[in-house]
Amino acid sequence: MDQLTDALEASLELVAERCGDPTERVYDRLFARQPEMEALFLGDQSRQARGHMLQMVLDTLTGMADGAAWPANMIRAEKINHDQIGVPFDVFATFFGVIHETFREAGGEDWTAEMETAWTDLLARAAAV
Ligand code: HEM
Repeated sequence: MDQLTDALEASLELVAERCGDPTERVYDRLFARQPEMEALFLGDQSRQARGHMLQMVLDTLTGMADGAAWPANMIRAEKINHDQIGVPFDVFATFFGVIHETFREAGGEDWTAEMETAWTDLLARAAAV
C-alpha cells in the first residue's frame, strides 16, 4: 500500500467514526446542488440503491488509488448505463466533489493535509477518464 491508498483509507475510517454511514449526508448535499437529480431516486424508497452506488464509487476510487485499470472502465461503463436513466456525465464530477466535501466536513479538524491531497489527486484522475 502506498501513501495515497493509506490516506484514502484513513479518510474513510475517519468518516465512519465521525458519522457512521455517510449516505444520507452525501445525497442531501448532491440534491441541494443538483435538485433535478432527486427525482431519479424516487424509486429508491429503501435507500439501498443510494448506499450501493456510493459504495461502488468509493470502491472505484480505492481501485484508482491502487493504480488498477478497472476503475476507468467502470466509470466509462456507468457513463453509458446512467445516460440511459437520465444522468448527464458532468454530474459524475459533481458527485465525486460532493463526496469529497461531505467527507472533509465530517472529518472536521481531524481531516489531514494527506487526506486532502489524496482526494484532490483521485478526483483529478477520475475527471481525466
Ligand atoms: C462512477 C460513478 C457511479 C457509479 C459507479 C454508479 C453506480 C451505480 C449503481 C451500481 C447503481 C445501481 C444501484 C442499485 O440498484 O443497487 C446506480 C444507480 C443509480 N445511479 Fe449511479 N453510479 C455512479 C454515478 C452516478 C451519478 C453521478 C448519478 C447522479 C446523481 C447517479 C445516479 C443514479 C441513479 C438515479 C440510479 C438509480 C437509483 C434507483 O434505482 O432508484 N449515479 N448507480
